[in-house]
Amino acid sequence: MSRRILVTNALPYANGPLHLGHLLGYVQADTWVRFQRMRGHEVYYVCADDTHGTPVMLRAQREGIAPEALIARMGAEHARDFADFAIGFDNYHSTHSEENRHYAELIYTRLRDAGHITRRDVQQAYDPEAGMFLPDRFIKGTCPRCGAADQYGDSCEVCGATYAPTDLIDARSAVTGAVPVQRSSEHYFFRLGDFERFLRDWLRQGDHVQPEIANKLREWFDAGLRDWDISRDAPYFGFEIPDAPGKYFYVWLDAPIGYMASFQNLCNRTGLDFADWWDKESDAELYHFIGKDIAYFHTLFWPAELHGAGLRTPTAIWCNGFITVNGQKMSKSRGTFVQARTYLQHLAPEYLRYYFAAKLGAGVDDLDLNLEDFANRVNADLVGKVVNIASRTASFINKRFDGKLADALPKPDLYAAFAASREEIAALYERREYGQAMRLIMGLADRANQYIDENKPWVLIKTPERMAEVQGVCTQGLNLFRVIVSYLKPVLPLLAAKAEAFFAAGELAWDDIAEPLLARRIETFQPLMTRIDPAAIEAMIEASREDLQAAAAPAPTGPLADDPIRDEIAYDDFARVDLRVVRIARAEHVEGADKLLRLTLDLGGETRNVFAGIKSAYAPEDLEGKLTVMVANLAPRKMRFGVSEGMVLAAGPGGKDLFILNPDDGAAPGMRVK
Ligand code: MSP
Ligand code: ZN
Repeated sequence: MSRRILVTNALPYANGPLHLGHLLGYVQADTWVRFQRMRGHEVYYVCADDTHGTPVMLRAQREGIAPEALIARMGAEHARDFADFAIGFDNYHSTHSEENRHYAELIYTRLRDAGHITRRDVQQAYDPEAGMFLPDRFIKGTCPRCGAADQYGDSCEVCGATYAPTDLIDARSAVTGAVPVQRSSEHYFFRLGDFERFLRDWLRQGDHVQPEIANKLREWFDAGLRDWDISRDAPYFGFEIPDAPGKYFYVWLDAPIGYMASFQNLCNRTGLDFADWWDKESDAELYHFIGKDIAYFHTLFWPAELHGAGLRTPTAIWCNGFITVNGQKMSKSRGTFVQARTYLQHLAPEYLRYYFAAKLGAGVDDLDLNLEDFANRVNADLVGKVVNIASRTASFINKRFDGKLADALPKPDLYAAFAASREEIAALYERREYGQAMRLIMGLADRANQYIDENKPWVLIKTPERMAEVQGVCTQGLNLFRVIVSYLKPVLPLLAAKAEAFFAAGELAWDDIAEPLLARRIETFQPLMTRIDPAAIEAMIEASREDLQAAAAPAPTGPLADDPIRDEIAYDDFARVDLRVVRIARAEHVEGADKLLRLTLDLGGETRNVFAGIKSAYAPEDLEGKLTVMVANLAPRKMRFGVSEGMVLAAGPGGKDLFILNPDDGAAPGMRVK
């Protein structure tokens, strides 16, 4: 039965160029879309640039251009990068569009009229010189924990501390250098809590999210669903809220609505019926491919907003993990922060598409792009196995048989076995288990090569009476190659297009695999793919180091600045926790307790009795004399073994991997920890 499927990808932020990390999610979704199309389903695939917010506004100011000019340039660059990586969107639009304004206002108004919007005053850092409120990322100062200079207002890149901007020492606006002041203004909030029941039910039914994300969601539910601040004060590059002059929709309010806007724009061009896909009763499938860092927005706010506005909700939201390069976070100084365009100047797009596919599964695990493995894998699999099948057989058909395939296959069973894998491979693509699919396909390529090795057309050709056999063996080999390329077509559309031209029998489609091509003329074989030259990778890394030097002033990153994934507490809450350095004066086993140790803690004069669940990781004698950190103002708790007067801090997943915090020498019992 033919399905109706709408697929979206996260909208790249118009603040900067695409890099290799971005590409993972786009390659994953594009592959899935191409697969569904090959199966004959009706599929639309849309995306757009995410254009609003403070970073875009300030970057445009820095460049001395209007934000509209900046987003036009970035949008065009992104679209070109996507096209060159063979990401085949049906429509690429912008959140700064009339369609998006329309749907943002519609959804907001419906939510407001249903009572899901509330207002209250918020205190925030304000730059009196620039005349604007400052997102945390636009406040810089000295880290209150480690003293590193020039750190952002929400976290320290040196020691990893997270804090409120008010904790920074010598805080300054990153925009003007002015000292920020606290100022209050009215903000608009979406009452997410109104949708807790709906969201819990939605999560229970069907596979709307991956299991790892479902777990995360349970944590978020347990932490409580807080109101979401959806407004920002002028000056802001975005849409003004209809009934609130001077207030703008926060970029994340209208960003996912951009999916609808892009689809509406496609409808305008093609005559598709928008309501058929977005009405509450729509039977079309809707999938959002996103990175795991933006799950909160897509699995809580977005379904709640849609539901609250009387629209359909997504069929599923699928998260991809993050890209690391050579086992480490992409790094500008190591040259592994590679822009999409820089990659394309040195390497072919399908190398990367294949490598991602070979390592992708349905989960949210991070994916390591190991550059040596990348070259080896692509060279061994695509060039050494797949392309090799055709290059060893095509020229005989072209030169000796006038381009004509034999009338019959010498080994129909072997062909049938290849074709019989198509349901298994289809099921793997469907479930986004591309890595498993690639392994199966490479297994087939090995068998095809083995067949050619055993039958050696280059030897047979020397015996004139065996000419017919040569045509048969090569026809067999080319037909096996055709099956393999069909299976790879979702991942390697460019290679598949070359193979289609060569076979001259129309587009490779999933169901056509059932029958071999016989007794027909094929075109002259053209080389399909060359090996990766390690020197090209070197050159790409070198060029990426240069991109870094060429980059403009440091741009505060993305709209994730106030990402609610971190369950933030107010500064005052934090300030109430009294953390003290203590010396573990005594540690002992507790009769009848299998997890606890009894600690006698010296706070520099005062002692406390604390039961700590760290027996799995420490023997008492390892602890005595050590310094650690405790919460000193925790209300005493009566336990089975006695009263516990505080808690010590430890890190780690548990079991043996549990580590009490250990301040450096120089710290002394009783010191306050800040
Ligand atoms: N504009 C938002 C998305 C709005 S969707 C309504 C955004 N943009 S982004 O440009 O920062 O990221 C675009 C996509 O790339 C997101 O899905 C993000 O998770 C993904 N990735 C960004 N860096 C990545 C890696 N290093 N690795 C894998 N995916 C990464 O978020
Ligand atoms: Zn620090």
